[in-house]
Amino acid sequence: MRILVVGGGGREHVLCWKLSQSPQVGTVYCIPGNSGIESLDKCTCINSDGDDIDFLLDFAIKEAIDFTVVGPEAPLVKGIVDSFRSKGLLILGPEKEASLLEGSKVWAKEFMREFKIPTASFEVFDNYEKACDYIERRNCPLVIKADGLAAGKGVFVTDGPGEAKEAVNQIMKEKVFGAAGSQIIIEERLSGEEASILAITDGERFWTMPSAQDHKAAYEGDTGPNTGGMGAYSPAPVMDADKIRFTEENVFVPLLEGMKKRGLVYRGIIYAGLMITEEGPQVLEFNVRFGDPEAQVIIPRFDGDITTVLKSAAGGALSGEWNWSDFAAVCVVMASGGYPGSYEKGKEIKGLSEAGALPDTFVFHAGTAN
Ligand code: AMP
Ligand code: GLY
Repeated sequence: MRILVVGGGGREHVLCWKLSQSPQVGTVYCIPGNSGIESLDKCTCINSDGDDIDFLLDFAIKEAIDFTVVGPEAPLVKGIVDSFRSKGLLILGPEKEASLLEGSKVWAKEFMREFKIPTASFEVFDNYEKACDYIERRNCPLVIKADGLAAGKGVFVTDGPGEAKEAVNQIMKEKVFGAAGSQIIIEERLSGEEASILAITDGERFWTMPSAQDHKAAYEGDTGPNTGGMGAYSPAPVMDADKIRFTEENVFVPLLEGMKKRGLVYRGIIYAGLMITEEGPQVLEFNVRFGDPEAQVIIPRFDGDITTVLKSAAGGALSGEWNWSDFAAVCVVMASGGYPGSYEKGKEIKGLSEAGALPDTFVFHAGTAN
């Protein structure tokens, strides 16, 4: 089997690593990939734009790709699944409209409200003055969110009205996220511990993965700016069996029913970012793909041929073995100094093969080159 993986981060490295272990797989192409992926048996990276859907489609047709897995959200939100399916190609991920679950926070919150998925109470605004009036009236800690994709930076967790209005100013007047901020959500600020729970679905059924928790703050002791993730671990002890069952029944089941009621096909990964409040788990956000770095701690715990499961979900009939190791996994991200602000590129990284040779230790790359 010939597989295409779209993306070039740690998530795509762990996916390529696991997929290429399958005896069914002959070749894994990864676009753009990275030098860690390039060094894997059976894997070849193509240094091209992983967001260029026409290029990816052309590539998949020319190279007779049997199955495509998409790592990041951008190609999904741009409609890669619709394009591939229209040519009869097998691809894992939700269609363009269903990807709005991640691509538009307004769409996602309204979907949650309609299908009674537990989430913070909220209002939507497209007018600066009305948003500020609302903040004055609520007079409690609020969270301000830009509607569209903002590389994980479009959320402001605020302590009081002054800070909340400044966030609205940044998004709506300064337009720091461009068109992604033409609508905003103002929602109740929840408190509790956060955890993520992912599932794979063929559109009808879903299978839940072990829980994970990512670590967003850049520096030690949960300090510093938020990043794409400085590490993760799995399982997250806060997600006990009752909370997992609660999430399955109150989040994943209504989500799939809602998608079907709207006539949308969702075959792929569902990622629920949860806050475990005193009233139980509430959804902070959905992603329509594996999390990164969460994938780096979840996928190594999978015991079996992941190709069968991912491909069967894409085909609309989940099958294969769904077994998970009891071992816990932890991931620590090493990034160039200065990240998530500006940082030096092109530095040599030494000692990776020694690290990777340690027992039960894997080195996954993101954005590296030889
Ligand atoms: P999101 O992209 O919506 O998951 O938000 C990013 C981060 O902002 C989350 O991981 C939380 O730490 C925080 N956050 C989002 N919504 C809320 C909320 N309603 N209450 C408290 N914190 C929140
Ligand atoms: N680690 C969070 C995400 O992948 O969105």
